[in-house]
Amino acid sequence: MSPVKVIVTGGAGFIGSHVVDALCHEQHELVVIDDFSTGRRENLARATALHPNLRVVEADIRSPEAAAAVEQFAPKVLVHFAAQMSVKVSMRDPELDASVNVLGLLNLLEAARRSGCRKVVFASSGGTVYGAPGPAAAPRDESDPRVPQSFYGLTKSVSVDYLRLYREQYGLEYAALALGNIYGPRQDPYGEAGVVAIFAGRMLDGLPCVVNGDGLTTRDFVHVSDVVGAVTNALRTGHGLINIGTGTPTSVLDVHASVAKAVGRDDRPEFGPALPGEVRHVALRVDRAGRELGWRARVALDEGVATVVDWMRDAESPRVEAVP
Ligand SMILES: NC(=O)c1ccc[n+]([C@@H]2O[C@H](COP(=O)([O-])OP(=O)(O)OC[C@H]3O[C@@H](n4cnc5c(N)ncnc54)[C@H](O)[C@@H]3O)[C@@H](O)[C@H]2O)c1
Repeated sequence: MSPVKVIVTGGAGFIGSHVVDALCHEQHELVVIDDFSTGRRENLARATALHPNLRVVEADIRSPEAAAAVEQFAPKVLVHFAAQMSVKVSMRDPELDASVNVLGLLNLLEAARRSGCRKVVFASSGGTVYGAPGPAAAPRDESDPRVPQSFYGLTKSVSVDYLRLYREQYGLEYAALALGNIYGPRQDPYGEAGVVAIFAGRMLDGLPCVVNGDGLTTRDFVHVSDVVGAVTNALRTGHGLINIGTGTPTSVLDVHASVAKAVGRDDRPEFGPALPGEVRHVALRVDRAGRELGWRARVALDEGVATVVDWMRDAESPRVEAVP
């Protein structure tokens, strides 16, 4: 694809920074908007080495500064990954969650349509927008009803509806990627997000890993490099809600075994109480991603987990900095 102007919000975050690296590599003209609330400047080091003039606007996506940055740059594509992304925070403070995830989105969409933006690529959430499946735990299809069980899931779902209406009203195209559980280098090993990062960090520190419940809970774990492939394809093709997963359910115990193998440790997990209200199985049907984006996940779990362990062993990872 010939280079276009792209804005990436949340570009200093875990997933966003990998997207920024790839778009820099493909020579697109880029602006990053991030308030660094959870993102890290170090995550942009590779991109700024490649493009010393990479413009990074430090702003809240709800602010007039963020809207002005969009209008001035007039991107062809807006890749919107900045978010309040904690389910727990959303349950504690639904107003904050809606403020960042809905009003922040609207601030950017208004600026985008005013400045002639062609398409929005949005990070939705396959694990939370569909809600709890029935007892059969059938894989979720994009046409399934969206009945989120958390305020985070609700804002990630209503964002898709806003995007649909912006397309109908203003012709602003969109691809809303309903992401599975994403893992890979640069994921915060101390947050609530990633079990791969948490297990890897603890095993490398010689600490016990605690499995909540029986460990047979399943999720669709997708390596971040596969998400990057989906985003770069979505720049030129695909629209509507699109599940981004492997289509293969993986249990927490499988993840634990894979991390133990990569670390080279015969680790026995401890078992704690199950998390209240946790959805037992999340499985995503991924045929639409093949049709709309010409995309499928390529990185197998063991291969992907090894990239996380390698990164954590690297002196530049925050885990190493945090160890006294
Ligand atoms: N990690 C996953 O497994 C997963 C799964 C489904 C969906 N997602 C979505 O993918 C996106 C990226 O997630 P991530 O895992 O990279 O998280 P992250 O926290 O690493 O990245 C989010 C980025 O957004 C920035 N940000 C947050 N609030 C902001 C605001 N008000 N203004 C400007 N910048 C702000 C943060 O500083 C950070 O750089 C999010 O939208 C998240 O909801 C992630």
